[in-house]
Amino acid sequence: MDAISAFSTYEREALEAIESADSVDTLEAVRIEFLGKKKGRLRDLQKLLGQVDPAERPVVGQRFNEVKNRVGERLDERKNQLDRPEESSLTGLDITLPGTPVRLGRRHPLTQTIDEFKDIMGRFGFTVADGPEIEDDFHNFVALNIPEDHPARDPLENFYLAAASIANDRQALLRSQTSTVQIRVMEQTKPPIRIVSVGRVYRPDTIDATHSCMFHQMEGLMVGDSVTMAELKTVLHLFATTYLGEDVQIRFRPSFFPFTEPSVEVDMNWHGNWIELGGAGMVDPNVLTAVGYDPEQVSGFAFGLGIERFCMRRHHITDIRRFIENDVQFLSQF
Ligand code: PHE
Repeated sequence: MDAISAFSTYEREALEAIESADSVDTLEAVRIEFLGKKKGRLRDLQKLLGQVDPAERPVVGQRFNEVKNRVGERLDERKNQLDRPEESSLTGLDITLPGTPVRLGRRHPLTQTIDEFKDIMGRFGFTVADGPEIEDDFHNFVALNIPEDHPARDPLENFYLAAASIANDRQALLRSQTSTVQIRVMEQTKPPIRIVSVGRVYRPDTIDATHSCMFHQMEGLMVGDSVTMAELKTVLHLFATTYLGEDVQIRFRPSFFPFTEPSVEVDMNWHGNWIELGGAGMVDPNVLTAVGYDPEQVSGFAFGLGIERFCMRRHHITDIRRFIENDVQFLSQF
């Protein structure tokens, strides 16, 4: 089919010429050469079309129109580009469109809560300490006075890691509590100590509206030569009233943790409801001994609070899973 191949040659040469035209004037010359009414090459093609077998005319005619339109369109596009050169250097960007305001990101509601917690505790003289999320059983259990047969060490209650040990034959696991940081800080520092540590903890709980296999805790530790339970209560009361307002009440209920003695569960009364904040107590003498302190010389208190719970209260969030769904519409409210 001679006509068809002539069309293709014409198309290829026309598009090349359009592409290499670098000014409105040279482009106009290209237009006259390929599409000009009087002597343009398109007229020759039209003549070829008249000569083809009538049976083939529909197919060949369609191809002719295709080529003609394509060359015409590309010519118009190129003309627009050459008319506005600044645009062609910014491929794909139409600078004539109206501007849209940029939507800035924001901090996650939990990050906001954590920052506020650190800020409040900082004003009470507590500095921020950090510890690893991949822990060993010494820091997560042994040094915290949690014996081998304690249910908290059950494989069903923990994310033990398959790589059996970190060092010294210690079993590795994702920490189940931030109390590990108490040990790490006391191992490295002499009293007096006043720290908080905020971070993720992991437990293989069944996930529902109030449970997640990963959540955040704030650990507090104060050690000195005469730290008492009255100070524990005062610090927690000051913390809660600073975060939620003056009308918060604090209550201690007797409880048990292997690493505190006596131990309590801490509740606060807010807007008429008792809400559990977390666990607390006086650091157990066995823990002080494990880190090389003399329990006759120093005493201390520790507490561990769940962060999600506070954040959910403050913002009326009813499902803990919302925090990790990455739903921008939800997150952009805070
Ligand atoms: N680590 C305890 C828990 O996760 C909370 C706690 C911290 C209790 C410090 C006492 C002292 O449940």
